[in-house]
Amino acid sequence: MFKRFEKVYGIDLGTSNTVIFERGRGVVLNEPSVVAYRENSGEVLAVGAEAQAMIGRAPPQVTIDYPLRNGVIANFDMTGSMLKHFMNKIQGRSSLWRGSQVYISVPCGITNVQKRAVEETIVHKGARKASVVEEPLAAAIGAGLPIHEPLGHLVLNIGGGTCQVAILSLGGIVASHTMRRASMSLDRDIMDYVKRKHNLEIGERTAEDVKIRIGTAAPDGEERSLEIRGRDAIDGMPRSVRLVSGEIHALVEDFAETLVDAIRSTMEQCPPELAGDVVEQGILLCGGGALLEGIDQRIREETGIPVYVADRPLECTAIGTGQLYPYEK
Ligand SMILES: Nc1ncnc2c1ncn2[C@@H]1O[C@H](COP(=O)(O)OP(=O)(O)O)[C@@H](O)[C@H]1O
Ligand SMILES: [Mg+2]
Repeated sequence: MFKRFEKVYGIDLGTSNTVIFERGRGVVLNEPSVVAYRENSGEVLAVGAEAQAMIGRAPPQVTIDYPLRNGVIANFDMTGSMLKHFMNKIQGRSSLWRGSQVYISVPCGITNVQKRAVEETIVHKGARKASVVEEPLAAAIGAGLPIHEPLGHLVLNIGGGTCQVAILSLGGIVASHTMRRASMSLDRDIMDYVKRKHNLEIGERTAEDVKIRIGTAAPDGEERSLEIRGRDAIDGMPRSVRLVSGEIHALVEDFAETLVDAIRSTMEQCPPELAGDVVEQGILLCGGGALLEGIDQRIREETGIPVYVADRPLECTAIGTGQLYPYEK
């Protein structure tokens, strides 16, 4: 009977966001994967949304970091501290975490040694069992795809630090392709463009805002504009400009092209029967980048394959991670 205390969690440790799902309850945490810590002592000052709000505003002795920035765990200690803080936040009473089973999906670029270390961090925190799962499988399950059937499905996960294309069949990954060029690199392209074109230096959050609010991959999309503030690159004084969506269209276009190339090369690697299935079943888009306006339409036009966006693109990986495996005694 004591089993009723055992819980199953699915954690999506993403380069941009960490999402935690609890089986039977739903998504219990969704925060940016950001840590603010004191440079000299390593003391953690804030994690998640609270730390993100400090980006660009912290004094020099405070470092604010995305510890998984490039699709790899760049700073393991900070990743571990961040996970611990998030876990503390949801467990409330420490006993709740005890004896639970935790499945975790990690960015595809991380090494086996790092995977083990993540599992150990979680077990150390009191979980009975922790296992790393493959992200594309989790995302597909979370989006409701019947991945165990003998039928090919293609999943494109557009994350912050990595994008991954995977063709799945019979519950496994048949072919895949990973890129470091992802949603955050579009933010950097926007920063570079604004500096080059308008002589204005802007921060990462502003660039991300531009992407989300006026970025569009649809050529005939409605023209929108956004006033942004930054620092004049020449005299160093604050200044603002109004950007229009047409200006950054070329950057988005270029990004969409990389995605299409990755889809094509993954299709080439897989057996013809599965490629045929994909053409019929369509492409599933997930990850925050799937919310970029018109990206589905653009990929559909370029590949001639139906494209649909997961219902909850930012959360489906965590949901699937928590549901992928049956409860283990
Ligand atoms: N509405 C939106 N339009 C475009 N991009 C978005 C939108 N919402 C979130 N994003 C982008 O999605 C990325 C985060 O996606 P996510 O799947 O959480 O990444 P990761 O798995 O790497 O943590 C960020 O780069 C963010 O800017
Ligand atoms: Mg992700």
